Amino acid sequence: MKIEAKKPGHSFKKGDTILLFMPEPEGTKKPVLLPAEFSYVSKLLDLSYFKGKQAEVVFAPLADRPAVIICGTGKQSDTDAESLRRCVAGAVSLCREKSIKKIHVLVPAIQGIDNTTVLSSIAEGIYLSNYSFDRYKTKNKGNGKPLVETAVFHTAAKDAAAIMKKTALVCGNTLLCRDLINEISEKCDSRGMAREAKSLERIPGVSCTVYGKREIEKMKMGLLLAVNKGSAKPPMLVVLKYRGGRPGQKYVAIVGKGITFDSGGINLKPSGHIEDMRTDMAGAAAALYALKTAAELKLPVNLYAVLPLTDNMISPESFRPGDVYTAYDGTTVEIGNTDAEGRLILADALSYAVKVLRPEVIIDIATLTGSCLATFGEAVACYLTTDDDLGRLLEDAAASTGEAIWRLPFVKEYDDNMKSDIADICNMSSEKNAGTIMGGIFLKHFAGKGKWAHIDIASTARATKQRGYRPKEATGFGVRLLVETIINWKK
Ligand code: BES
Ligand code: ZN
Ligand code: ZN
Repeated sequence: MKIEAKKPGHSFKKGDTILLFMPEPEGTKKPVLLPAEFSYVSKLLDLSYFKGKQAEVVFAPLADRPAVIICGTGKQSDTDAESLRRCVAGAVSLCREKSIKKIHVLVPAIQGIDNTTVLSSIAEGIYLSNYSFDRYKTKNKGNGKPLVETAVFHTAAKDAAAIMKKTALVCGNTLLCRDLINEISEKCDSRGMAREAKSLERIPGVSCTVYGKREIEKMKMGLLLAVNKGSAKPPMLVVLKYRGGRPGQKYVAIVGKGITFDSGGINLKPSGHIEDMRTDMAGAAAALYALKTAAELKLPVNLYAVLPLTDNMISPESFRPGDVYTAYDGTTVEIGNTDAEGRLILADALSYAVKVLRPEVIIDIATLTGSCLATFGEAVACYLTTDDDLGRLLEDAAASTGEAIWRLPFVKEYDDNMKSDIADICNMSSEKNAGTIMGGIFLKHFAGKGKWAHIDIASTARATKQRGYRPKEATGFGVRLLVETIINWKK
């Protein structure tokens, strides 16, 4: 979608479609008026039934005049960046329903929120809602709903052009992230993802190293190799690097789980749980597109993205429950369950980051546990960290991007649950509860002594229904969160 900003004062004509905003009245009975130049709309249209509730929309084609869409913003006192993002999703659906290809958005002034935030939130909501994955449909692409092609924002905000540029970049990459996650596993396999990562080298400051099976064997990444044993495809370890900071400036490393299909392995997933497991690389995709965004925004940071890639398949060669493998850092790991594969490949990638890349902070992001989805539903992700400042940074970023996260504790008493009788550690807890915390405890063993956070996005990476500006299927959760975290790091 093309987005652009114009100063107010544009004269609209028949054939244009204009998006207007109306808040829900509160306290006084005074009716809320439309912007002065559109007061005629309330004379032509009975708006008495329109309450201005969040995401309420009305479409008025109006003879001989520009068409008008009125979008409710909800009570002013409840209005914030996230409610603005959400409220425009309904307007975008309406445009797609009516095949409206271009909209003019009259960005409102909202008491208590600065112009810049109002503009960027509305632009983000529109950009992120305007998505469909239909490359495998031969007819009825987008379910017959065409995408909006252009959105023009009429605003007095001073930095409008810069906001448009940033929104198009960040949200554009979030949509690309959704595409990669939605892509079928046959194409989005380790090679496909490595190819995608390698293509980022065209961006100034980005370099990409792809380690193949032989190199991974030479490095003795026994856990990544164990998960890959049942696969017909090679494992890969991608290390993306972006240098935007001063010489000598420390690095942030993002490590993303890249399981391109999770069958569960010998502990095979049953029907009902296996169908969407091509999206088990959503963490790696978020890391990849966060780095791409940081580089395209030319952020003054130094950044790594480390992506361990393989599928988790069944064959006579597959790794088995009861096996023991030696991790990259020398730890021996008993396989309690082959379906707890994410923590295995992440363990090797984390200790690689600690030992070789030596960043100042590591954030891993992964669709790690079913327990995360069961606990938080599809709207909230969770994280564990050993560093309160890093936790605060993530929470602030989440509050500003609308990607809700909730912190879980490292419960010391549970450390013993990951003990093994035959090896140093087991990938499966001896108790069935608190699965997300147990996953975090396993990873902690490999994350070094420095600042580290683990984000579990098994809940939010994929949705079973549309939620506001997040579509059904891949949501791209994490890209904006990571970018915002990186922007605020050491600011
Ligand atoms: N990829 C799954 C987690 C998952 C579940 C992601 C649902 C998205 C939606 C992960 O590899 C897994 O299977 N985890 C197991 C771990 C268990 C065997 C310790 C789980 O959570 O059941
Ligand atoms: Zn699994
Ligand atoms: Zn998995």
